[in-house]
Amino acid sequence: MRPLFPAAGEWTGRWIEPVDAPDGPELQRPAHHLVGEFNVAGTVVEAFLHVTAHGIYEAFLNGARIGDGELTPGFTAYRQRLQVQTFDVTALVREGGNALGALVSDGWWRGQHGIQRRTDSYGPATGLLAEIHVRLAGGDTIVVGTDGSWRSTPSHIRRADLVAGEVHDLRRRIPNWASLGTDRSYWDPVVVADHRTDILCATIGSPVRRVEELRAVSVTELAPGRHVVDFGQNSNGWTRLTDLGPAGTTLTITYGEWLDASGDVTQNNVKESPFARRRAEPVSFQTDVVTSAGDGTVFEPRHSTKGFQYVRVDGHLGPLDPSTITSIVVHTDLERLGGFACSDERINRLHLAADWSLRANACEIPTDCPTRERSGWTGDWQIYVATAAELYNVTDFSVKWLADVAAEQRPDGAVLQIVPDPIDYDTERSAWSTIQGVAGWGDGVVHVPYELYRATGRADVFDALFVPMQRWVDFAATRAASGRHPSRIEARPEPMMHEQYLWDSGFHFGEWLEPDISMLDLVKRIQVDDHGPVATAFLYRSAKELAEIATILGDLAIADHYADLAAHVLDAWRTEFIDADGHVHPATQANLVRALSFGLVPDALRMMAADDLVALIRAADTHLGTGFLATPFLLPVLADAGHLDVAYELLFQTSEPSWLAMIDAGATTIWEEWAALRPDGTIASSLNHYSKGAVISFLHRYTAGVQIVEPGYRRFRVAPLPGGGLTSARFHHDSPHGRIEASWKIGLDHLGAVDVTVPIGTTAELVLPDGSTFELAPGDHRQTWTAMAR
Ligand code: BGC
Repeated sequence: MRPLFPAAGEWTGRWIEPVDAPDGPELQRPAHHLVGEFNVAGTVVEAFLHVTAHGIYEAFLNGARIGDGELTPGFTAYRQRLQVQTFDVTALVREGGNALGALVSDGWWRGQHGIQRRTDSYGPATGLLAEIHVRLAGGDTIVVGTDGSWRSTPSHIRRADLVAGEVHDLRRRIPNWASLGTDRSYWDPVVVADHRTDILCATIGSPVRRVEELRAVSVTELAPGRHVVDFGQNSNGWTRLTDLGPAGTTLTITYGEWLDASGDVTQNNVKESPFARRRAEPVSFQTDVVTSAGDGTVFEPRHSTKGFQYVRVDGHLGPLDPSTITSIVVHTDLERLGGFACSDERINRLHLAADWSLRANACEIPTDCPTRERSGWTGDWQIYVATAAELYNVTDFSVKWLADVAAEQRPDGAVLQIVPDPIDYDTERSAWSTIQGVAGWGDGVVHVPYELYRATGRADVFDALFVPMQRWVDFAATRAASGRHPSRIEARPEPMMHEQYLWDSGFHFGEWLEPDISMLDLVKRIQVDDHGPVATAFLYRSAKELAEIATILGDLAIADHYADLAAHVLDAWRTEFIDADGHVHPATQANLVRALSFGLVPDALRMMAADDLVALIRAADTHLGTGFLATPFLLPVLADAGHLDVAYELLFQTSEPSWLAMIDAGATTIWEEWAALRPDGTIASSLNHYSKGAVISFLHRYTAGVQIVEPGYRRFRVAPLPGGGLTSARFHHDSPHGRIEASWKIGLDHLGAVDVTVPIGTTAELVLPDGSTFELAPGDHRQTWTAMAR
C-alpha cells in the first residue's frame, strides 16, 4: 500500500525554486534542473517519494526517470488544489549516496493558458516540493526532502510553454545531470520558499501518458529543407525525431491540423485566440525548435502538447526518412470500456473521429480543443460526458475536475465557464467575472455527476457536489427571479407571474454555433439575443436532476424543494414558449429538440412538436440546424417520436451541414463549426471539438440499441433500430457488472438476427425491430426477426 503524502505542516521537504526565477521574459524561460543528494545508511526495505511542483516536473532518482506520467503534477484549480504524486522508488534508492532530481518547466502554473493565453497565472516562479521516505532493515525510517542544500541550473530546454512549444539546444545537455557524483558545484543555490501545503491533495485517477505512437503516412518535400509530414490522424501530443542531422543543425517543427492550398501546414484556424492578450513580440504557437548535438540524441519535447495531424519540419537537409519522425499521442490514460462498429465504413469513420476528439480533449482536464484554448469549458463536458462514459471510464477523470468546479464556484453560486480558470476572481477585477454563471455551461456541476451515476451506479460521485449543485441551481433560480430580457420588457412592461421562473437575463451563449451563423457573428449577437428558451430549459433540467439526486441520497426535503422548483420552471417555459395553438416557439430545430429531449412539451403536444421539427428539417432540404447544445439529442428525439427514417437521413446526409460532410472532407476528429471548410477552401476554427460528435451515442443507444434502464446498467434495454441501409451493427460496453454485447445482422434473405450478452448481476429487456419483446436473464441470447425490405 502506498503511504499517504504528509499532511499540511508535516512536510520535511520545503518548497524550493530555481534561484533566477523569474528568469527572463514570459515565454522565454528555460526548464530548470534541480538536484539534491542524500545518504542512506543501511539496507533499503522500502522507499516512497512524494512530489509535486509549481509547473510541470519530471522526477529522476540516480539518473532514472520516475514513473511514466506526463505533465505531472497535472492541472487542477491550483489556488485551492495541487496534486501530489506518490511513487514507490524502492528499486531506485541505494544504500549510501543518492541523487534526486527534477526537470521543472512553466506548465499551466506560469506558462500560457486558456482563451486569454495568460501567463504567470498562479505565480512568478516555478518550484518543487519533494520528500522521500526510506524504511531500513531494522525498522528505522529516513525522511529527506527538498531543502536549501539543493542546486539548480537552466537546462538544455531553453524555452518550454504548453501553447508556444519548446526550444531545445541538445548541445547544452548536461550528461548525468541527475546522477550521484556529477559536478554541480557551478550550479546555483535554490531559494527556499514558504508556500502553502494545506492545498496539497491526492492525485485522482490515471495520469496523462504517452498512450500511442502514430507513424508518418507521408512525407512531402515542399522546398529544400522544408518537409511536411502527415500522420493521418489529428490528435494531441508531440513528435519524436531521431534524425536531427549533424551537430549545430537547427530544426523547426510546426504543428497544425490542416494543410493550406500550397500543401503547407496551416495554423490559421487555431493560432489566434479571440481574447488573447496582445503582446509586443510575435509569439510562436505549437512550434518546437531543436538544435542537434550530433550525437544521436533523440528529440522528444515532453513539456508541451500540440493538437495536430501534420507537422512542417524546417531545416532538415536531404530527404526526411518517415521512420525518423513519430507522432506521440498523449492524454489521460483512460480505461476503454466500449466499442462500436457497423456495416457502413463512413459511419465507422465518424465514430472513430468522435472517439479521437474525446481522447485529444482528455488531457488532464476535459478541454474544448487541444489547440486554441485548451480550456475546461464546463459546457463542453456536460454535453459529451454521457457519450464518453459509453466508451471510456471517465469517472475519476471527471471527479477530479468536478472537485475543481466546486472549488472555483463563486460565492454567489455561479459556476465558472472554464475550470480551472487561471483568473483569480477574488483579487482581480475582470470583465470576465460579470459573465460567469452561464446556462448550459454551469449546469455541468449537476449534469456531469448525474450522468456518471447513470453510467456507473456510484452514488458517491455526488458526495462532494451535493452542496455546490444546490448553490448552482439556487443561483440560476435567483437570476431568473431578478432579471428580464429587454425584448420582454418592451413587449410587456409589467412582468407576468410565471416570469419569476423564466431565466432570460444575464450572459449566455445560447445554443451556440448553429450552422447558419459564423462564430464571429455569434459573438456579436450573444449579448443581444433572448436566451430565455435555452436558459430556462437548463434551469428546469438541473432542478429536476437535482431533485432526483437528492432522492437517491435520501434527502427528501431537498428533493421536494427542487422538484417543486422544477415544476414552476417547467410551467414558466410552457407558458412563455408554447403558443395558444400548441406550437413551440421560437421554431428552431434546436429549441424543438431541447423541448422534446428535456421533456418540456406536454405529452399531448409531443407529436406536433416532432412534426414541426421534421418540417424544419425538410424545409432545410433534410439538413440539421442544431448547434452545440442540442445536436446530441437531435437523432434520439426523432427516433423516439417515430421519425427514425429522418434521423437516418440526417446521419447519412453528405452535404453541409452534416457529420459525413466533415468526414468526406477528410476530418479525422470532429470540427467545432459545421462549415469549418469555407467555400474558398480555407479552414476556420478548431478541427477538434467533441461536442457535435456526441451523435455517436445514437449509434450505441439506437442503432445498436443499448440503453441504460437502471444506473450502472444493472438493468438495460437492447432495442436495435436498423436503418439507413445498415446491414449490421455491434456495440459492447464493459459495465460495472461485466461485458454487455449487442450485435445484429440482416441477411440477404431479410432475416435479422440479434445476439445479446447479459452479464451476471444484470437483467435486460430485448425489443426487436418488429416490436416483440423478451426478458433476458444473464447469459447469451439470440433472437431473429423478419426485416422489412428496404
Ligand atoms: C470554446 C467552446 C466553448 C465556447 C463557449 C469557445 O471558444 O472553444 O468550446 O464552450 O467558447 O461558448
